[in-house]
Amino acid sequence: MQPSPENDSRPSGVIRAWEDFVEQQVYPQPAAKAREDYRNYDQPARETVREFYRQNHAHQTWDFVQKKRDEFLKLQRQQMNVFEALDFLNTLVDDSDPDIDLDQLQHLLQTAETIRKDGHEDWFILTGLVHDLGKVLCLYGEPQWAVVGDTFPVGCQFSDRIIFHEFFANNPDSGDPRLSSQTGVYSKNCGLRNVLMSWGHDEYLFHVLKSYLPEPALYMIRYHSFYAWHREGQYDWLCDDHDREMLPWVQKFNPYDLYSKSPEPPDWQKLRPFYSDLLQKYLPSKLSF
Ligand SMILES: [Fe+2]
Ligand SMILES: [Fe+2]
Repeated sequence: MQPSPENDSRPSGVIRAWEDFVEQQVYPQPAAKAREDYRNYDQPARETVREFYRQNHAHQTWDFVQKKRDEFLKLQRQQMNVFEALDFLNTLVDDSDPDIDLDQLQHLLQTAETIRKDGHEDWFILTGLVHDLGKVLCLYGEPQWAVVGDTFPVGCQFSDRIIFHEFFANNPDSGDPRLSSQTGVYSKNCGLRNVLMSWGHDEYLFHVLKSYLPEPALYMIRYHSFYAWHREGQYDWLCDDHDREMLPWVQKFNPYDLYSKSPEPPDWQKLRPFYSDLLQKYLPSKLSF
């Protein structure tokens, strides 16, 4: 039986199913839209992802997000450098599945290496390496629907361009007039920095790194799962000019996140000195998680 997000104790299971789903089905590369890809689509994975979004959309409420921010944004859980965080994150690997050995580390390395090959600036490469470190939330016992998945503003209307929008009918905020108008608790064009996003690895890591990286890097980290904004063009009514100026960076990052699976996995041991220098240039010896 395919484990559901509620009964699957393996954090990597849903993360992988969700990422594959996003990559192949929701936001496929133009060339991958061929019928064959759809025929190859694996039904149990789709069900897992559906169930994941059912939970996510029902439980990501204004109150839930406040609670999680209070709980995690003091950043008093652990001090780690990026290498330690990568090792820690890699314990997400499901031992029962040989295919996903080094899954999380490989995703980050491949993202970073593809950015590097395209000749981008060093802070952009570094962003590729660290962008999903917030998934350590899974190792603090958080349910997967509160770590990964598309993110969206809470405290206002849920855009109908968010994937599996129908599941927002089960979110109590949808029935609260204060929280469900187009701007909700916000004022028009208040700027995304004033908007609470659904809780997950993006927002968490932004707070861990916000003092250290250039502004476009922070936007990539904070909004990389905000598909309704960077892919669907929604929520401009909450954006200010600064957000609009940063949007192309978030869009530039997205293909590296989704489509940089390489047939030849990068060799971490060989690459380590390069990344060690890069980390030293931008980040302190320990980060507060
Ligand atoms: Fe991510
Ligand atoms: Fe990612």
